[in-house]
Amino acid sequence: MDSILWHIREFAEIDSTNTYLAQEAQSGAPEGAVARADFQSAGRGRLDRSWEAPRGVSLLASILLRPTVPPEQRFLVSAAVALSARTALTRLCGLQPELKWPNDLVVGKRKLGGLLSEVVGDGEGYVVGIGVNLQWPGPEGVGGTCVLDEMGVSIEPRAMLDITLGEIGRRRSLLDSESGRVELHDELVHALATLGQMIRVERAQDSLTGTAIALERDGTLMVATPDGVVAVRYGDIVHLRAAETL
Ligand code: BTN
Repeated sequence: MDSILWHIREFAEIDSTNTYLAQEAQSGAPEGAVARADFQSAGRGRLDRSWEAPRGVSLLASILLRPTVPPEQRFLVSAAVALSARTALTRLCGLQPELKWPNDLVVGKRKLGGLLSEVVGDGEGYVVGIGVNLQWPGPEGVGGTCVLDEMGVSIEPRAMLDITLGEIGRRRSLLDSESGRVELHDELVHALATLGQMIRVERAQDSLTGTAIALERDGTLMVATPDGVVAVRYGDIVHLRAAETL
């Protein structure tokens, strides 16, 4: 059951829905505040990157949630949104993207969407921004895809947002309890294409190659390399191929 009263603000144009909603959250906006835009002039991605899309062809939205989550399990807040978006796409058109650690929606090796989660204050809230390519596969050279190219259907951003919010409503209470977080973690592991893959981890200071073998309860990705098992807490990863054995 959807337990949240959603309050959706829609913009023809804005700098960034995450920036806007973070300010609203700081001013005390309640859980359930949502911002959606047709166009962002300064959209932001992970690791200080920009996120650009032409007008009207992507879901560009940010959602304010205020669960009680231990700091080491904050990653589950964005996971709940990613899993909800995944289910929404399946319900809308049958597409079942997988998740790529830490926060991407992918179809095979192609990126369909990404999430940017930002903490408000000391954890009084989380602004989870989501961008999903609906009718445009992302900038050239990035190897992205979109729902139109995958399924031949045009989904309107607002339709995808509405179904996604309903799905978040179904998962929201899981974030507040230990058993609920275990359930969400299990759903995430099931949806995560990264586990069992040979991956390359790219970070500012180094890169390493190995097999992703586990997702810890704090969101750390465990990677088996020729030099031993490495705990990866942040960075970009590239899926190389499915590992032959786990
Ligand atoms: C990533 O893959 O790097 C995350 C991309 C997140 C983009 C979304 S679009 C809506 C929201 N507003 C932003 O400025 N960013 C997020």
